[in-house]
Amino acid sequence: MSLAYWRDACKVNHPQIDDEHHYLLTLLEKLYQAILRDHDEDAIQTSLDAVFSAMIDHCETEEALMEVFAYPDRISHIEQHEEILVLIFNYRLTLEQGLRPLTLDDVHDLATWLTSHVWTHDLKMVQFVQQQQKHYGAAMTQEINHRIFAPMA
Ligand SMILES: [Fe+2]
Ligand SMILES: [Fe+2]
Repeated sequence: MSLAYWRDACKVNHPQIDDEHHYLLTLLEKLYQAILRDHDEDAIQTSLDAVFSAMIDHCETEEALMEVFAYPDRISHIEQHEEILVLIFNYRLTLEQGLRPLTLDDVHDLATWLTSHVWTHDLKMVQFVQQQQKHYGAAMTQEINHRIFAPMA
C-alpha cells in the first residue's frame, strides 16, 4: 500500500517550511509502512523517534520565525506544537513500556493533525511573516532567514 500524506495542496509557499512539512509527512509514511510491513518493534520505535526529533526541530524553526516577527498568535500556535509533541512522546512511552502497540490509525491521526495544523495555523503564520518580510525589505529578510534556517544547510 502506498500513502501520499504529502501533496502540493499542503504547501504554504514558504520554501523552508514546506520542505520541513514534506520531510515530516514522509517520515510519517515510513512509520506507517514500518507498522504495516512487519510489526518489528525496534524499527517502529526508531521510526517514531525520527518523527519526534524532526517535529521538535520543525517546531523550533517556526517558533523562532514567530518570535523574530513578533507574530501576534504566537502563544496559541506554540500551544498547538506542545500538544502534538506531547502526543508523540506519549506514544513513545506507551510503546517503550509495552502498554499497547502503535497502530496505523495512530499514524493516520498524526498525519491528519499535521496537515490540519499546516492548513490553518501555519498558513496564517506564514502569510503574516511574508507581509512583514515585504515591510522589512530583502536585506533584512535574507538576514533573518540566514539566522533561522542556516543550521539546516
Ligand atoms: Fe506550526
Ligand atoms: Fe508546521
